[in-house]
Amino acid sequence: QMKGAIFDLDGVIVDTAKYHFLAWRSLTEELGFEFTEEHNERLKGVSRMTSLDILLEIGNLEFTEAKKLEMAGKKNRLYVEYISQLDQSELMPGVKEYLKRLRKRGVGIALGSASKNALFILDKLNIARMFDAVIDGNKVSRAKPDPEVFQTACHELGLQPRECVVFEDAQAGVAAGKAAGMQVVGIGKPEVLREADLVITGLHEL
Ligand code: BG6
Ligand code: MG
Repeated sequence: QMKGAIFDLDGVIVDTAKYHFLAWRSLTEELGFEFTEEHNERLKGVSRMTSLDILLEIGNLEFTEAKKLEMAGKKNRLYVEYISQLDQSELMPGVKEYLKRLRKRGVGIALGSASKNALFILDKLNIARMFDAVIDGNKVSRAKPDPEVFQTACHELGLQPRECVVFEDAQAGVAAGKAAGMQVVGIGKPEVLREADLVITGLHEL
């Protein structure tokens, strides 16, 4: 029996993955190497600085910490520019209906996201009030696949891990949910999200 539902944000609640991709690609174009959608799978769910490290590994490049902070800052400014136009039309299919249904059933609802832009996005989408707890990249120090973000969310809902279900679109996020001892519903492709207990194409399926 699910008492708590913990949702990832990017790629589960809202279709922002394409904006992350575009913003990173603008950086890789500048650096002069190719960055494909397949590479992008590895960036999903992981923190901004870890994403940059993975990118630089793909491009086989090394930079100082100061230069990396500058590059991540530039990527984020571009990303924020993209998402400043977000509205409810970019909610993933079935999100609002499912959240409402859970509320009615008395299920606790939390956000468990790596993003430092999470509150900004929830606000743009006008759905912040649907969440009983919001755990984002500003509140945790260890990035997915570490379970910290989901453990903190579960704790804030006042529940045990086995009472919570995690909804994730990223490999790192599915791994984090399993490491937290929770049931995980993967949103996306079964061949990508192998570790998930169930894989669906979107919340509209539930
Ligand atoms: C995750 C995304 O939700 O947040 C990642 O899937 C992103 O792609 C990470 O890098 C950090 O986001 P932000 O908004 O803090 O740069
Ligand atoms: Mg995601």
